Amino acid sequence: MAIHYVLKEGDLADGGHAIVTVNGREIGIYRRGEAYYALYNYCPHLGAPLCSGRVCGTNLPSDVYRYEYGMAGEIVRCPWHGWEFEIATGKSLFSDKVRAKTYPVEVHDGQIGVVLGR
Ligand code: FES
Repeated sequence: MAIHYVLKEGDLADGGHAIVTVNGREIGIYRRGEAYYALYNYCPHLGAPLCSGRVCGTNLPSDVYRYEYGMAGEIVRCPWHGWEFEIATGKSLFSDKVRAKTYPVEVHDGQIGVVLGR
């Protein structure tokens, strides 16, 4: 495993993200508060550039004729067909079996690093 330092902490505002390239692989780095997350820029449905999708919330499970919006800023919506994924975990909102690939993120001395396996 290797850490690839791709950004400095000041490069991302809270709620912001950037797409970086590491070893030829595009990865979206997202900041939420003091936490950072990394998602592969590839939708598991048909390969859209997932991290160019809108960051949003979603409709939460609710009673009939009630609409509850929640998870604001915690979801990325694929730009091609609208599948939604949790930024923090890569899990899709519609199936436990579908998820976007995530990578661990480490911060050392103000540098944000993505951890890639071999
Ligand atoms: S390619 Fe992402 S939802 Fe279809």
